[in-house]
Amino acid sequence: MTVERQFDVDLPAVMVDPDAIDNCVLNLLLNALDAVARHPDPRLAVRTERADDGCHVRIVVADNGVGIPAQQLPGIFNALTTTKGGRGTGLGLAVAMKIALEHGGDITATSEEGRGSTFNLALPIRPAREPSGPPSRTQSEATGLPAPSQPERADTASGAEPEGEV
Ligand SMILES: Nc1ncnc2c1ncn2[C@@H]1O[C@H](COP(=O)(O)OP(=O)(O)O)[C@@H](O)[C@H]1O
Ligand SMILES: [Mg+2]
Repeated sequence: MTVERQFDVDLPAVMVDPDAIDNCVLNLLLNALDAVARHPDPRLAVRTERADDGCHVRIVVADNGVGIPAQQLPGIFNALTTTKGGRGTGLGLAVAMKIALEHGGDITATSEEGRGSTFNLALPIRPAREPSGPPSRTQSEATGLPAPSQPERADTASGAEPEGEV
């Protein structure tokens, strides 16, 4: 099996729940492994890169496996959708998508039957919502002064779609 790894070392830091994102990427990798299981020359690629929109980083998991028929592609993120019979739970992608959305991100997939699939996990460089405000904001609220404006948030909220594929 060939595994190509290509990690962009200049990516900005992204605020994430690391366990959750681990889980998300693991689900994509396990599916990729399943997809290449019977391939004579199995290949996986894992890349991190800045998305074209400049507002997201992207984790890409690609395989040269069985691929997904076009008519099945729209349903693969639905819970309990599996083509693996008793071996599959049909939960991996549903959970992965839930995690991505909770981070303000998204997962898109492209695939060609018999040729392989590419999954893109996009995560916003600036989260739309932060778990807690910075101390200066709390202070200014306490003093009755207006909170500092946060143009980055407004930009992110009205930002472009993470990915245009699928
Ligand atoms: N990399 C992939 N290559 C081919 N098919 C895939 C890939 N990833 C997901 N799928 C399809 O999407 C379905 C749902 O995936 P998932 O939610 O992880 O459930 P499970 O792996 O338990 O079947 C899979 O059963 C398979 O048909
Ligand atoms: Mg799975």
